[in-house]
Amino acid sequence: MEQIHIAIDGPAGAGKSTIAKILADKIEVDYLDTGAMYRALTYHIIKCNLDIDKEEIIINEAEKIDINFVNNSIYLNNQNIDNEIRSSQVSKNVSTISKISRVREIMVDKQREIARHKSVIMDGRDIGTVVLPNANVKFYLDASIEIRAQRRYNELANKREVEFEDLKNDIIKRDDMDSKRDVSPLKKANDALIIDTTDKSIDQVVCEMINIISSVKGGD
Ligand code: DC
Repeated sequence: MEQIHIAIDGPAGAGKSTIAKILADKIEVDYLDTGAMYRALTYHIIKCNLDIDKEEIIINEAEKIDINFVNNSIYLNNQNIDNEIRSSQVSKNVSTISKISRVREIMVDKQREIARHKSVIMDGRDIGTVVLPNANVKFYLDASIEIRAQRRYNELANKREVEFEDLKNDIIKRDDMDSKRDVSPLKKANDALIIDTTDKSIDQVVCEMINIISSVKGGD
């Protein structure tokens, strides 16, 4: 297949990154987790004890830091931060940072640059609407809030103590901020295919997506 761009959007815990990684392996294209980029900046701001409510400071840092991916691992100024960006402190604050318009411009530029000369599966909130509006295939993954919270809980429960209800409320709050912000809110692109993953296994969803991708010809 020629160069192909696949956009996957949807709310937290809908299965986007798990599914995107498997899909990328199966169809042998690169995967880009755009949420990890916003998380990396959030982690940096928290780690440096900077004021999360001061937009100028955050923008300034966003322009300075180096975010890089190597084999699906994320590096901030050459330090691997795969685990650090999944902390609940980062999750609670990432929506405050990702709603800043200039921060989004910086991240979107980097994302488009990564996709410029290669096939890529990108997941996020604004991939089909803003980052890759001409993507060959656009998916919008969704699932009930109960199952989304349960998935996140299962992922985190071994690592530290988390109350299910707290985690669920954090996801509700984050989805609310992500879908109501002024700039590039979480939104299904008009031409995106919705897949509800609530009652489906990962394999079922991956299979469904591969069938759709196989039926698509040409590139953007
Ligand atoms: O996919 P995730 O849960 O790791 O994303 C973390 C946050 O980053 C999410 O709450 C909203 C923001 N985000 C965004 O605004 N745009 C993207 N393309 C990806 C993530």
